[in-house]
Amino acid sequence: MHISLRLRVSSIPMVLLAMLVSAMLVSAGGTPLTQAQAEARLLPSGITASSEGRCTNKSNPQCTSYVGILSGTVDGVIALKKAAGVPSLVITGGTEVGHPGGVYSHGTGFKVDVRHQPGLDNYIHTAFLKIGNRGDGFPQWKGPSGNLYCDEGAHWDITFY
Ligand SMILES: *[C@@H]1O[C@H](CO)[C@@H](O)[C@H](O)[C@H]1NC(C)=O
Repeated sequence: MHISLRLRVSSIPMVLLAMLVSAMLVSAGGTPLTQAQAEARLLPSGITASSEGRCTNKSNPQCTSYVGILSGTVDGVIALKKAAGVPSLVITGGTEVGHPGGVYSHGTGFKVDVRHQPGLDNYIHTAFLKIGNRGDGFPQWKGPSGNLYCDEGAHWDITFY
């Protein structure tokens, strides 16, 4: 009797801990992926990477890296390509160093840079809501789930929340 009561009491913090951990794992951005895990999802979907250095090293700003990219970001890019109906999509920036920091940034796995193409640009312009320019003057569109599509001129800078 005494023992079972102790077990029951001590199981309460365990349940709370489990709830906290699962809430963290299913947060908006999902879970961080390895380079190989991200490629395994993106490549069969027709989504490739491009970089000046033709490399994937997260510590080199010349590379386009998927190391630590969030699963929700990867799912978001795949969904965007499908919705836009374009045959291919090119990611020109991932989690590599050299981008501004912040909670929702490239380094934390929430952002990708995506190459412009007419089908994609038209889709973003028509399907999403044009909102005020970003602080640096670049125009941005907002999706129904809050995702931000900022046209930085050279490419789209997309934040998946
Ligand atoms: C990744 O880049 C960093 C910084 O340029 C370098 O020190 C490191 O050796 C590179 N790693 C690989 C595996 O190329």
